[in-house]
Amino acid sequence: MSVNIAIDGPAGAGKSTVAKNTARALGCIYVDTGAMYRAMALYLLRQGIDPSDTPGIEEACESVDITIDHEEGVQKVLLNGEDVSSLIRTEEVGKMASVSSANGRVREKLTALQKKLAREKDVVMDGRDIGTVVLPDAQVKLYLTADAHVRAERRFKELVERGETPDIGELERDIIERDHRDMTREISPLKRADDAILIDSSALSIDETTERITEIIREKTGLWK
Ligand code: DC
Repeated sequence: MSVNIAIDGPAGAGKSTVAKNTARALGCIYVDTGAMYRAMALYLLRQGIDPSDTPGIEEACESVDITIDHEEGVQKVLLNGEDVSSLIRTEEVGKMASVSSANGRVREKLTALQKKLAREKDVVMDGRDIGTVVLPDAQVKLYLTADAHVRAERRFKELVERGETPDIGELERDIIERDHRDMTREISPLKRADDAILIDSSALSIDETTERITEIIREKTGLWK
């Protein structure tokens, strides 16, 4: 049986960096499910489909092909064969992904792909519904969160390093709005699974968070001693 580790939490809690580092430390594959929802969102944006156009989104699900490839442990997302891994990292795509991921048909399609990956390989998978819906039998479930203001500050730093000039207040408002949308949607809302371990990274560095998580996984699975 493959080893499945689930990490859920709100936007900007540091999930992807920590999950990527943890997967590397444990020799697992890192699966970023948010990237799949973002690839779907990029497709919808390119097609000019409105987030409120449910039949349009459902039709798009039939014609779009989203796949994942790993190169030296690093995930690549392919949208109809095109590597869109860097194109999906914009605020516009993130916002669209948060809206279009509420669609049941979108979730059905991407959840099936995620379950298949986890059956075939040892994975550290991050997202919003991994411990609750995608991998309810994961050996370890973690819920990683941080204060909204701290998350906005982290995002601010990231964007400044990229040469952008963001507004911290706007970033914080966007984060709060995204949390609300992800947590209150009808299908598979973001919530902590009953058996998930809660980690608040507000006062922790990325390295400290990774260390803590890796330790918990070692303890719980008895693997990688
Ligand atoms: O983690 P992220 O910011 O890349 O995710 C983008 C959006 O995708 C997020 O706002 C909600 C959605 N998402 C989801 O609904 N379920 C997941 N498992 C992962 C992401």
